[in-house]
Amino acid sequence: MVKLLVCDSVTKKFGGIVALDKVSLEVSKGELLGLIGPNGSGKTTLVNVISGVITPDEGRIVFEGKDITRLKPHRRVALGISRIFQGMRVYPYLPVYYNVSLSARSVYKDARLARAKTTWALTITRLLAEAGELPINLTPYKLRMVELARALVTGPKLVLLDEPFAGLSPSEIDEVIEIVKKLNENGLAFIIVEHKLRYLMKLVNRVVVLNEGKKIFEGKPDEAVSNEEVARVYLGVL
Ligand SMILES: Nc1ncnc2c1ncn2[C@@H]1O[C@H](COP(=O)(O)OP(=O)(O)OP(=O)(O)O)[C@@H](O)[C@H]1O
Ligand SMILES: [Mg+2]
Repeated sequence: MVKLLVCDSVTKKFGGIVALDKVSLEVSKGELLGLIGPNGSGKTTLVNVISGVITPDEGRIVFEGKDITRLKPHRRVALGISRIFQGMRVYPYLPVYYNVSLSARSVYKDARLARAKTTWALTITRLLAEAGELPINLTPYKLRMVELARALVTGPKLVLLDEPFAGLSPSEIDEVIEIVKKLNENGLAFIIVEHKLRYLMKLVNRVVVLNEGKKIFEGKPDEAVSNEEVARVYLGVL
């Protein structure tokens, strides 16, 4: 397996709270990794550290053999790490097309290439019919698709999804899963943070479980479900 991302003993503290406590994990090229754990266990903090929104206090982030621990988020996007946020981050009064093409132009200087990538991203996320709409007029599902299109349009190798199923109906979740699977078949790697484990466990190849900032489990989804400590931290959830 070729290593795409390595998090090496990453620690992040917020005052007295240890949000991440020496967390190490690896993601291979084209892998689908689930990142789970109870509320406040450090999942979003880890996504923030990988995408560069926050800098860890200790430890290293290595992407394709390059130490990116102190690289700014936009430089990481250019290297091939994209993300969607927990909660929406689109420009509400800018048509869908421009929301996506702005993201494309942040990476591609060539306007024609940026346009071609924008069309591709809108096609994959099934947003062509909504290209002229304002995000404020869209459903939560379509908004999630705009966010995903903005992440995909920069040509990532790794996409970080923080709670992509939140607020969606079962059939909408199935559509997100279908899109993620198709992208993954074409070699795109994902780290997916989710509380909706029934859906997530069917999608991912491997899971990492965090609890109080520590990695407590790493392995196959079915092994996670039968692991005693994982069951304990998820009591009543699994
Ligand atoms: N900017 C911040 N300032 C202070 N504390 C923070 C900050 N961000 C996160 N924390 C704290 O760090 C811990 C981990 O938070 P984080 O958001 O990473 O958890 P999470 O696993 O994503 O939780 P959830 O499932 O609820 O989204 C929590 O105790 C949280 O309160
Ligand atoms: Mg979170």
